[in-house]
Amino acid sequence: MIEHFNLPKDKLPYHIAIIMDGNGRWAKKKNLNRIKGHMKGVEAVREVVTACRELGIKVLTLYAFSVENWQRPAEEVNALMGLLKEYLLKESPEMIRNNIRLNAIGRLEDLPPDVLEILKKTIKQTEGCDGMILNLALSYGGRSEILHALKRIFSDLKDGRIREEEIDSPLFSKYLWTNGIPDPDLLIRTSGEFRISNFLLWQIAYTEIYVTETLWPDFNREELLKAIADYQSRERRFGMISEQINGSKE
Ligand code: IPE
Ligand code: IPE
Ligand code: MG
Repeated sequence: MIEHFNLPKDKLPYHIAIIMDGNGRWAKKKNLNRIKGHMKGVEAVREVVTACRELGIKVLTLYAFSVENWQRPAEEVNALMGLLKEYLLKESPEMIRNNIRLNAIGRLEDLPPDVLEILKKTIKQTEGCDGMILNLALSYGGRSEILHALKRIFSDLKDGRIREEEIDSPLFSKYLWTNGIPDPDLLIRTSGEFRISNFLLWQIAYTEIYVTETLWPDFNREELLKAIADYQSRERRFGMISEQINGSKE
């Protein structure tokens, strides 16, 4: 499956996270309504999910809607929720066929009830799939996630379920919505903005970042391969020195 991609398989990122940005600008450039940009964006999602699965990526996290995005005009928010529902309804058989498990992170309780219902249903339907995790960040905010974790830690401390001495990075990670999912190796942001926009603040401590000028609706398999090839050319040192990293491989 991997051969025609011509990428070394051993250095593939295990977990890719994407800030899918630029739908509005894509539409504006074409004199179209922003919603048309989001519709084209869904097509890019389909292509990238399929490409990641074929490549053997194990986790793909897509930033689909932030806590801040609720402040957009109601018409746009409603259209995005409608597209999400349609995507889930259409794609669930495909996910099962391709052995993809759906997961979601974020303040899911903020989602409209009909969207939440189909989301939960799809998560349940795909829970036995183990080829790849498609992790959707919906009504997601990194700060909300950290605060949510902190509150649960406090409550477990108070009730004696954990002791203060036990609190370390691995334990903290378990209280996050991404519990059980390794931190992203590669973070891609489309449409040229050099910011994180409240995405996975804790988890990206040592993630490699790739920013492309390409707008999300134009992002495709080829663009993904370019990002992965760039990732593969880097040396991840995790605070150490080059010799230690190369030495540890022998
Ligand atoms: C990303 O595209 C999609 C969402 C945030 C839901 P935008 O809608 O942010 O597009 P731009 O940034 O306005 O071009
Ligand atoms: C980040 O994009 C959120 C998503 C891609 C879902 P935004 O368009 O909301 O980010 P800002 O406002 O440019 O920082
Ligand atoms: Mg944007």
